[in-house]
Amino acid sequence: MEQRGALLILLFSFLSPSESLLRVTVPRSHRAPLGTNTSIPCQFLIDYPPFNPHYLLIYWYLNDREILNYTTKVRTSNRRLSINSGSTKFGKASLDIADVHISDEGQYTCSVLYTPERRDRNVYFHVHAPPRITITNNVVTGNKKSALTASIHDFYPKDLDVKWLREGEILVGGTKLSPQRNADGTYRVTSTVTIVPTEENRNQSFSIWVQHGSLSVPLQEDFQLLYEDLNAPNRTTGRTSLPFTCALLIFAARDLRKKSIFSDDVSRSRSFIPTKNDQDSRSKWKNKKTFRTSESGEEDNTSRTSKYLLRNKEKRRF
Ligand SMILES: *[C@@H]1O[C@H](CO)[C@@H](O)[C@H](O)[C@H]1NC(C)=O
Ligand SMILES: *[C@@H]1O[C@H](CO)[C@@H](O)[C@H](O)[C@H]1NC(C)=O
Ligand SMILES: *[C@@H]1O[C@H](CO)[C@@H](O)[C@H](O)[C@H]1NC(C)=O
Ligand SMILES: *[C@@H]1O[C@H](CO)[C@@H](O)[C@H](O)[C@H]1NC(C)=O
Ligand SMILES: *[C@@H]1O[C@H](CO)[C@@H](O)[C@H](O)[C@H]1NC(C)=O
Repeated sequence: MEQRGALLILLFSFLSPSESLLRVTVPRSHRAPLGTNTSIPCQFLIDYPPFNPHYLLIYWYLNDREILNYTTKVRTSNRRLSINSGSTKFGKASLDIADVHISDEGQYTCSVLYTPERRDRNVYFHVHAPPRITITNNVVTGNKKSALTASIHDFYPKDLDVKWLREGEILVGGTKLSPQRNADGTYRVTSTVTIVPTEENRNQSFSIWVQHGSLSVPLQEDFQLLYEDLNAPNRTTGRTSLPFTCALLIFAARDLRKKSIFSDDVSRSRSFIPTKNDQDSRSKWKNKKTFRTSESGEEDNTSRTSKYLLRNKEKRRF
């Protein structure tokens, strides 16, 4: 009997200081997207009222280095960090981070000192950034080995899964170079698949599929092949070709003429061989599907393609 009583007293003397005087709770980990504002949660509970703010001290550490402290005011050398001093009296010591950087990722420690008690709790902060896809080549040559390439960029963390598809079926032999680091800490990678395009592939839908930890649903970009036919007449010969000029003279009726010129251009646009100077404009319109270019974020769309065709139509008329 006496022994049991002694044991209970012993147990209480171990439990009570840690269990009831000051408790600090944090989640095991916290996640936020790059560039957003976030708050790493930390709550504390003091079990001996009344609360005296002069006894309270809060420290935040990143990878064991002090980054912020709070007594009656917040002190930090990083302008993006703060804690809401108005909330501390409600037991909140959460760390606010504005404009999250990749370098903010790491092991945080929320340390609450309420004289004479002190509790430290660790929370790991993960930053993530979703990938973006830019198709960098979909120009192919019929019956010749042709590489489809895409740049997958601005993602974090590094691990990423890429697949190339034709009509929803995985193409074998897709490769991915090792990811390169950008200045802001995000990654970019180039992926390629080599195919030998057949006539049947002309109207088929190709896709690149990307899975990444930041995405709840995989990212997919669809496109069609753009055939570069080496045997077709090039632009120079096309413009001066005699049958074409004759066609203009014979079909003088206005709407009929318009129609025939335009449809001729559409079919030709697929087989047009660009010169070096054309390279830039070509890369802007070659992708059928609308997509965002990486640098400028400028939107390309089909109306631009038709403008391109119209421009060529004007040239060719004379
Ligand atoms: C609190 O933070 C400031 C600024 O980072 C620092 O100068 C000061 O030494 C810190 N105070 C304590 C008690 O750690
Ligand atoms: C993020 O925090 C900064 C600094 O506190 C503030 O100026 C900005 O408006 C916040 N942005 C958003 C989207 O809340
Ligand atoms: C591709 O589509 C065009 C028009 O959409 C059609 O005229 C042509 O026959 C199709 N070609 C093949 C190989 O399916
Ligand atoms: C394009 O046409 C010009 C003029 O006929 C010719 O000299 C040139 O070799 C042609 N280029 C190609 C790639 O066929
Ligand atoms: C295409 O872009 C032009 C301006 O660049 C815009 O006015 C037009 O609404 C866009 N069309 C579509 C279908 O997005």
